[in-house]
Amino acid sequence: MTTRKLIVGNWKMNGSLAANAALVQAIGQGLERAGAAVTVAVAPPSVYLAQVGGLLAAGEEEAGQCRATVALAAQDVSAAPSGAYTGDIAAAMLRELGVRYVIVGHSERRKYQGESNAVIAAKAAQAQAAGLTPIACLGETLEERDAGRALAVVQEQLQAVLEHEGVNGAALVVAYEPVWAIGTGRTASPEQAQEVHAALRAQLAAALGESAARHVAILYGGSMNAGNAAELLAKADIDGGLIGGAALKAPDFLEIIACAQ
Ligand code: G3H
Repeated sequence: MTTRKLIVGNWKMNGSLAANAALVQAIGQGLERAGAAVTVAVAPPSVYLAQVGGLLAAGEEEAGQCRATVALAAQDVSAAPSGAYTGDIAAAMLRELGVRYVIVGHSERRKYQGESNAVIAAKAAQAQAAGLTPIACLGETLEERDAGRALAVVQEQLQAVLEHEGVNGAALVVAYEPVWAIGTGRTASPEQAQEVHAALRAQLAAALGESAARHVAILYGGSMNAGNAAELLAKADIDGGLIGGAALKAPDFLEIIACAQ
């Protein structure tokens, strides 16, 4: 387990110039009261990365060192370094905008864009080559869980990333997001989540060694909210959260951050 929790707000395809400004301001004000014992990041849609990066930098300058800083995260990155890939965004471009983390392999991209384990692993490698930290998302569907295949599915997804040339497993963030819990209001129980997180930690230890595996943050995502965050975050191998819906409401997001202190 990592000592410092990581809370990432994935805004998905939500927001506007005005709404982003209000949300960043409210989060910044709340963090001034919350202290600096947790790492926080927000992932706006890519068209707003420059805006949100500017807002975060301005807010931090005003607040000084007395609160947690908020890092900028992207929701996706290209599997290629540059070139004729219309619509894609290269990792180096994200880096230039001040992005620190990038989500790869979110189940919504696996489902709607047909992203395979191989493509996702290539994205993680591109991110690391540009100095970004990939947040590699893993998760089983309800059918796979009911068939008793949850661990096998997530372990296969993680193994594809770990085995990809150019990926440094020790510098990954992993996010376990059971597909059946995303946006459904149905959360994995802390015990269900811990079981998967422990299995992923063991897999990381087998690949990287015990010590390196302990330092890889394994986040939980899937209907995490102000009401269930404390219980989930108390589990030994849950090192933070990847938050969707609740990250769009500053009071809820701040409450989750408070649970991670
Ligand atoms: O990336 C975030 C996850 O998909 C969780 O979304 O909190 O709305 O269930 P959710």
